[in-house]
Amino acid sequence: MRVYCAKDYYHASRTAANIISAQVIMKQDCVLGLATGSTPIGTYEQLIKWYEKGDLDFSKVRSINLDEYRGLPADNDQSYRYFMNTHLFDSINIDKKNTFVPDGMEPDAEKACRDYDEIIRSHGGIDLQILGLGHNGHIGFNEPASAFAKGTQCVKLTESTISANARFFESMDDVPKEAYTMGIGSIMQAKKIMVIVSGEGKAEIVRRAFLGPITPEVPASVLQLHSDVILVGDEAALAEYNKDV
Ligand code: F6R
Repeated sequence: MRVYCAKDYYHASRTAANIISAQVIMKQDCVLGLATGSTPIGTYEQLIKWYEKGDLDFSKVRSINLDEYRGLPADNDQSYRYFMNTHLFDSINIDKKNTFVPDGMEPDAEKACRDYDEIIRSHGGIDLQILGLGHNGHIGFNEPASAFAKGTQCVKLTESTISANARFFESMDDVPKEAYTMGIGSIMQAKKIMVIVSGEGKAEIVRRAFLGPITPEVPASVLQLHSDVILVGDEAALAEYNKDV
């Protein structure tokens, strides 16, 4: 695993954006696996700046996102499709037809999962998968479990995730209780994986995920088995990891 330790969030975001840029330049029609959450926002902002300067062209790029809430339409401002549009897609020249997020409005969960696996397969897999890291080691919505999920799955959100999300919705009833997520198997099939971490709140889970035992109780620990992983973080997030290597 290659580790890039930047002094702060801004510089970590620039490093991550550089790695994505290299991928887009080397293979113009590459398939990017994308994540939402607070961590990649700085990376996406940097990519937009370089696109505006004329340094990057996304016209042939394809993208496949990790996850989406079940039951939220694309125009709901809490949906991950909305997040991707507002934080990246609307500001670059990617063709939205080539951007994929699980269909949160598909009522048949099995079909939604099958369709998404087919989208990943028909694009020839993912060239570069971007991941954030949950405080409990989750990647995508793959929460700690007794086994690693292979393909796309529909997951029930934990009570703590539902209550944490409640602040973004008008009432508790509006908070999604389920989500679709790309499986660990699909993530592991990506040719290259970049995990971005920031802040001292992530320091302990970074150590457990990359130096601890490989177990579905810490889903990200499976990444230790992948041959091409890049970990990009700021000093705060990498503090515990750096102590132990
Ligand atoms: C987002 C996702 C999640 C986040 C993780 C970290 O698409 O799949 O696994 O990457 O929850 O979130 P932040 O970056 O907000 O700390």
